Amino acid sequence: SRPIILDCDPGHDDAIALILACASPSLDIRAVTTSAGNQTPDKTLNNALRILTLMGRSDIPVAGGALKPLARELIIADNVHGESGLDGPSLPEPGFEPQTEHAVELMARVLEESDKPVTLVPTGPLTNIALLLATHRELTDKIERIVLMGGGAETGNWTPAAEFNIYVDPQAADMVFSSGIPITMCGLDVTHRAQIMDEDIERIRAIDNPVSDVVADLLDFFMIYHRDPKWGLEGAPLHDPCTIAWLLAPELFTAQDCWVGIETKGEYTQGMTVVDRYQLSGKPANATVLFDVYRQGFVDLLAKSLRYFS
Ligand code: BDR
Ligand code: CA
Repeated sequence: SRPIILDCDPGHDDAIALILACASPSLDIRAVTTSAGNQTPDKTLNNALRILTLMGRSDIPVAGGALKPLARELIIADNVHGESGLDGPSLPEPGFEPQTEHAVELMARVLEESDKPVTLVPTGPLTNIALLLATHRELTDKIERIVLMGGGAETGNWTPAAEFNIYVDPQAADMVFSSGIPITMCGLDVTHRAQIMDEDIERIRAIDNPVSDVVADLLDFFMIYHRDPKWGLEGAPLHDPCTIAWLLAPELFTAQDCWVGIETKGEYTQGMTVVDRYQLSGKPANATVLFDVYRQGFVDLLAKSLRYFS
């Protein structure tokens, strides 16, 4: 099975990505690290522990990461994810302790000790990943690929130009996209097509186990923010689970290799991912950018995975 490290800021969709990964025997989760983003770093760490406790996965080492972005103050998304970062369901308190080491050191140790290259799956701001690359250059060869949720070719969701994860720490994103490590970018182009509808939530609720019940409650809450007609969405975009779904079933997705640059300075465009779809820059592709997903297949994969917990 494929070794992965999840670096996340749970976050409703992060939690569902984590659950999808835990349900899949073809993925070997070597560590879960947390970033500051959807909520403050203490809360995202606590949420990762609570979700793993719910699944009985206290065997997975967890560590908290950077307290704020590399060069700016932290922005949180409590308007989307609530006061706790995971508002909605009732969750168990953490049943185990995080590692005492920093997320970056845990990632480095896992990479060093791994017999094969490890895939990094960041679903929050890229601060921890950038710090890892900057402080452990010698471990670059041990990273197979970075499969991230962030950015978008067509639009932003936090500013007109920028998606939340990239906007929170554009400097970190720039370091990751210019690292030379193979990247899969699950941006808003694909995640806005990976929508979960009310009837899908009912289907998930009917699976009726402790994990699927929590996922249904998470989705009910996550739906509230996305019901605003301004988004033009029928359901809620399941951003972060696209990363895991791509690892499990890449055939569900449409992708194109592109050069992607990160705007770190623009007056209106900070945090924008500039995606060169038509090879206008002359720069070599640095990312596999996902543009579309077979939605029904994606929902079926999620539902099938949740039955694993019955
Ligand atoms: C991203 O921002 C967060 O709110 C979500 O967890 C996702 O990672 C979507 O822009
Ligand atoms: Ca996230």
